Amino acid sequence: MNSFGRIFRLHIFGESHGRYVGVTIDGCPAGLLLSADDFEDDLSRRNSGAVGTTGRHELDVPQIVSGWHKGHTTGAPLTILFENKDVQSDGYEQFRVTPRPGHADFAASKKWNNFNDLRGGGQYSGRMTVALVAAGVIAKKLIAPANVYAMLEEVNGRFLYDMEQAVEEAVAEGDSVGGIVGCTVDGLPAGLGEPFFDSVESLISHLLFAIPGVKGVEFGAGFEAARMKGSGYNDVIISPDGRTADNNSGGINGGITNGNSLTLNVAVRPSASIAKLQQTIDLNTCKMVDFQIDGRHDACFALRMPVIVEAAVAIVLADLMMLNNCAVSTAQNETVC
Ligand SMILES: Cc1cc2nc3c(=O)[nH]c(=O)nc-3n(C[C@H](O)[C@H](O)[C@H](O)COP(=O)(O)O)c2cc1C
Repeated sequence: MNSFGRIFRLHIFGESHGRYVGVTIDGCPAGLLLSADDFEDDLSRRNSGAVGTTGRHELDVPQIVSGWHKGHTTGAPLTILFENKDVQSDGYEQFRVTPRPGHADFAASKKWNNFNDLRGGGQYSGRMTVALVAAGVIAKKLIAPANVYAMLEEVNGRFLYDMEQAVEEAVAEGDSVGGIVGCTVDGLPAGLGEPFFDSVESLISHLLFAIPGVKGVEFGAGFEAARMKGSGYNDVIISPDGRTADNNSGGINGGITNGNSLTLNVAVRPSASIAKLQQTIDLNTCKMVDFQIDGRHDACFALRMPVIVEAAVAIVLADLMMLNNCAVSTAQNETVC
């Protein structure tokens, strides 16, 4: 499905090299102060330009085409479009016969009987996340004063200043690298999350795993929890508002926010499209063949991921706040939970 959310509901559409990529948000409250400038910071954090990111440079000017009038949301479906202009579509059709190892070319061609648009990865491109980030800008406004922030913490198992080096080495080798993005949300009310299936972890993971290239999500201590004892894991409550001494639960108990910071990590794979010589099957001859990819690709798209992760988390929280009948902040209204 290309839709997500219960009340704050997104519909994402477009393809990497189609005319537009965009999002329609149904259920966005009326009266939210919004201008095209509000998108600038987050969109530029997602954009390319750094070493290890693609040579494709889109201007990413948001075109708000419905649900917005005189600087405010109107309550009608809010549609935001992004034009795809810097496209170079030659060279993708060959992936129908010689699919890229590790990319979606083969699986998508099977699913859509070869009618899928392969250009730039089609619907399986990181380009789709521009729409997610735009929806995230709205969601961040709605969940304020709760504040979501993410950063790249690890690249190819290396940290801090060594991360840049890891990216440069991959670029020089014609290879790619992945990374881990850490994300925290401060200022969340306790009580968000819906039993039984719509736990906070379930919904956030659902949206995070929709982001192309996300291969793991953990909350709080995550996989490390399996190596701990209860006496070390349990978060001791130290104040009547539920504040805990540690935060191994990542701010969630029973699928419900507990009033502490929500913390999670996201594992991002290395790009499939690398310049290094690989092998793939030629589906016409059924023989293995040498295979090399040129064109413009991210050697480390994890560099562009923190703001995408923030968007996904904020979108889920905005929806959960609405489900919880929290008053969400609009131009007139501050959040009161
Ligand atoms: C912002 C962003 C940029 C991406 N850039 C590339 C890229 O340049 N080359 C590539 O092979 N994959 C890239 N990807 C990842 C692919 O879209 C993804 O690996 C592919 O759809 C297959 O999905 P999977 O890895 O989840 O199985 C990017 C993903 C994101 C989120």
